[in-house]
Amino acid sequence: MRSGIKNRIDCLRKEIIRHNDFYYDKNDSEVSDSEYDNLVKELERLERKYPAFASLNSPTQKVSGVVSSSFESVKHSLPMLSLDNTYSCEETSKWCERVKKNLNEDSLEFIIEPKIDGVNASLTYVNGILIVGATRGDGERGENVTENIRTVKGIPHKIGVFPHPDFFELRGEVYISKLDFKDLNDEMLKIGRQGFANPRNAASGSLRQKNPQITAMRKLRFFAHSFGGIRGRQFKKHSDFLRYCQECGFQLQDDFKICYSLEEIMSFMDVMLNKRDLLCYEVDGLVIKVNDLESQKKLGNTSKSPRWAIAYKFPAKQATTRLNKICVQVGRTGVITPSAILEPVMLAGVKISHATLHNFDEIKRLKVNEGDIVLVERAGDVIPKIVKTVKKEKKVLFKPPRNCPSCNSEIAKENEEEVAHRCVNPDCPAQFRRRLIHFASRNAMNIQGFGEAVIDQFLKKKKIQILADIYYLTYNDFISLNLFKEKKTINILEAIAASKKRPLSRLLFALGIRHIGEKISEIITKRFRNIDALFNASVEDFTKIPEIGKTLALFLKRFFENGAARHVIDTLIAAGVNMTEPETYKIGREFEDRVYVLTGELETYTRKQVSEIIISLGGKISSSVSRKTDYVLAGTNAGLKLEKAKELDLRIIHEEEFKKLITSRQNVESSGLMIGVREK
Ligand code: IVH
Repeated sequence: MRSGIKNRIDCLRKEIIRHNDFYYDKNDSEVSDSEYDNLVKELERLERKYPAFASLNSPTQKVSGVVSSSFESVKHSLPMLSLDNTYSCEETSKWCERVKKNLNEDSLEFIIEPKIDGVNASLTYVNGILIVGATRGDGERGENVTENIRTVKGIPHKIGVFPHPDFFELRGEVYISKLDFKDLNDEMLKIGRQGFANPRNAASGSLRQKNPQITAMRKLRFFAHSFGGIRGRQFKKHSDFLRYCQECGFQLQDDFKICYSLEEIMSFMDVMLNKRDLLCYEVDGLVIKVNDLESQKKLGNTSKSPRWAIAYKFPAKQATTRLNKICVQVGRTGVITPSAILEPVMLAGVKISHATLHNFDEIKRLKVNEGDIVLVERAGDVIPKIVKTVKKEKKVLFKPPRNCPSCNSEIAKENEEEVAHRCVNPDCPAQFRRRLIHFASRNAMNIQGFGEAVIDQFLKKKKIQILADIYYLTYNDFISLNLFKEKKTINILEAIAASKKRPLSRLLFALGIRHIGEKISEIITKRFRNIDALFNASVEDFTKIPEIGKTLALFLKRFFENGAARHVIDTLIAAGVNMTEPETYKIGREFEDRVYVLTGELETYTRKQVSEIIISLGGKISSSVSRKTDYVLAGTNAGLKLEKAKELDLRIIHEEEFKKLITSRQNVESSGLMIGVREK
């Protein structure tokens, strides 16, 4: 019995380490996150139950994943955004001009800082005391890593400068120096453990250790670079904030510079490019920020990134290597995607063995074939790509396969304009497998634990032949799979049942329809709140949605007319899957980047006040109604604008609803301001 358990533990450890290697070394993954988490959970449970087999070398001692369930999750006082990127002087120049134009300024003060390649962290101080330390996570919520944060050099536990803000969410980069990274990797290799692929992964992995004593040994450091919610102190400029951080004992980068022109920015870029390799930490570009905080506020944010800052990245790192093999994969919509298997090579500190080839036209363009020496590039964190063929091994060109590697059906382009080659068989098993994986994935129906390994087993047993079959799987079906025991089976059955209640927007996205991503499916279901409305919608009805053009509308109409789609949906309805979108306010999304038109008179606010509120929450005001209008705020005596809004079928809101929207957002922010809302 005990040797069986030990074997299982060894087997799980090996499996998890293999997935970790895959993820960290090759920027790829063989299993879904949930399957990976399930393996870790099972190992943790066994290690807890049989402490004699616990080991500090076990992968359970370090956590990977975005918002790991092993940590409490923490809601940030304000979303933690990412930065828009550019690699060119031209785009940087355009960005500077745009910012100046939007602020109506001829010249501006920018502050430029190095972009440190570490892991973003948030520190919450209440009355000067460090209360919560969290990772960025998904931007809304991060992982509560307070105990680990307390071990990081350069993070004061108390702010000693008086008076301190009553609330302060300070943000910055946790990083590891190049030297400490090398020492850490050498140490790990000595004890037979796989080193980290790069300093960023080392910082991220170390910050997410379950045992803070291990984090403390990792010599992490911290640079302050921005802040979220703050109450009880104001700054005029970003440079004032940095100075204050320094007074409080935070470490600042030596290399920041105030610039007033593109020329100054470019010459600082040259300086930093030359200095890059001499710095004791990894830097992957510069961050250009508008220094004046009032101007930052005026510029606001998109849902993803601030408009007042941009990352000007250093040129991508390149290297040459041998292309060993060209593989082809079949996607959920039948697209055949070639990819390159490379002789492993280090690129920007990461070992690379795969590169994308996009499509067969790209292979033709590159004149590349198996055995050739190629130049590969890793730009930022994206999958490496082949830039050019450096030396040809064979004279012949690569021939795209004529038949699908899965079902042997014909591979063809839908029309000459299309670059993608597709397997024409709608019943292709590889497409169906991909559709199932997508259907169950986190952003779709989010069926935790229902990943590739499980799907493959059910496909093999022919237990799943249509999507709806997922909902008829029984306890016995799962328990008979070798990875499932009682608790896990109960969990997965609960996850399947819970997925039936997902809103229509998730379902629409989960169906894996071409052109229908997450965002567009939310937009569509906001207008058509149940499946019948979608089936009954005409092309014109679809084009009334500003984000939907004629081509997409035609495509949607054709999709809903198709008998096969009707059948998929009918079988899902019969299985009890929800087909409606609830009326909810997506807090924070009602303003950011939304275009408002005001018409008529309001009771509580003047027009100026309403405009200020909308702009301060990230929205825009327009004077005329068009398809680009997101909301028409209508008061009494509203006139022609209201008529036009009705004609265009725009979203019309009245004063009470508007009040609800702003208060719900304010509620969130003020409750977040007290202290990050904790959720388990
Ligand atoms: S300012 C986005 N300044 O870059 C909100 N970010 O994609 C303002 N980063 O994960 C961030 N060095 O942690 C800022 N000097 C710097 C930075 C920096 C690195 C990271 C940041 C975030 C990522 C943005």
